[in-house]
Amino acid sequence: MSYNLLKGKRGIIFGALDSKSIAWKVAEKAHEEGAVFTLSNTHTAIRFGEVKDLAKKCDTEIIAADATSVSDLEKVFEKSIDILGGKIDFVLHSIGMSLNVRKKRHYSDLNYKYLEKTLDISAISFHKMLQVAYKMDAINEWGSVVALTYIAAQRVLYGYNDMADAKALLESIARSFGYIYGRDKNVRVNTISQSPTITTAGSGVKGIDGLLDFTERMSPLGNATAAECADYCVSLFSDFTRKVTMQNLYHDGGFSSMGMSLKAMAMYNKSLEMDLGLDSLMDDLD
Ligand SMILES: NC(=O)c1ccc[n+]([C@@H]2O[C@H](COP(=O)([O-])OP(=O)(O)OC[C@H]3O[C@@H](n4cnc5c(N)ncnc54)[C@H](O)[C@@H]3O)[C@@H](O)[C@H]2O)c1
Repeated sequence: MSYNLLKGKRGIIFGALDSKSIAWKVAEKAHEEGAVFTLSNTHTAIRFGEVKDLAKKCDTEIIAADATSVSDLEKVFEKSIDILGGKIDFVLHSIGMSLNVRKKRHYSDLNYKYLEKTLDISAISFHKMLQVAYKMDAINEWGSVVALTYIAAQRVLYGYNDMADAKALLESIARSFGYIYGRDKNVRVNTISQSPTITTAGSGVKGIDGLLDFTERMSPLGNATAAECADYCVSLFSDFTRKVTMQNLYHDGGFSSMGMSLKAMAMYNKSLEMDLGLDSLMDDLD
């Protein structure tokens, strides 16, 4: 059902790769809610992903860009304003990548070149995006910028590796730039901290299946899906959240406020009874 929440709004959605991507669901929902927008991703993602199908479905254009390149980002904003016929009202940063995770480097044995890439792609690109938009004055008053993050920024979650550091930086950038952009242009900047979700990026996290089961048992409302995340993003792009800024907003079924739940305790007790030989299991995982 559509509420026309984004009717008349223009946006840019970064990071739709395939139909599992959170950005893909956001694009579908924003289209349904009456927005017009452009899509952006890397050349490789456009070539090997399914984003062309999404563009067709949403009757829009794709602008290739590496989000770590300031000149690419300038092009995205310039072209989007041109294609959409005016300044931008909302931006989604749905970008993350770690070569240390991909190449299975342990957190105590990081490759620092990879770490620099992780931080540049997954966090500093958000600063670049905001700085480019700010300098170009590309976003309308009361516009909304959202980036996606994960609770590993606050708490240690096994297997998240250097992405935890990237998310901590990303959330800090949202606060620091949120102050400047709010003060000078009435633009809001927030991060949404999403439940673990099966996507291409999500599947790269070590132990993702166990993590999904654990967070599902721990969260009173269960894990939030990518489609539910899209609903939340749309509400933040809409005029109903105009005074929400500089926040890290949990969208996780209540997980972030939990310590132990009945369902998780039941599972834990069961595994104790079964005596699973946890020591050898831990050796395998480490
Ligand atoms: N899946 C999860 O469990 C989960 C949970 C919380 C937060 N997030 C965050 O959500 C966001 C979207 O991830 P997703 O789960 O939809 O996975 P995804 O793999 O579908 O999306 C990641 C996107 O980042 C893009 N990307 C990588 N390098 C880039 C670069 N240099 N320039 C531009 N784009 C680049 C990829 O092409 C891809 O489209 C990420 O920030 C991720 O960390 C995901």
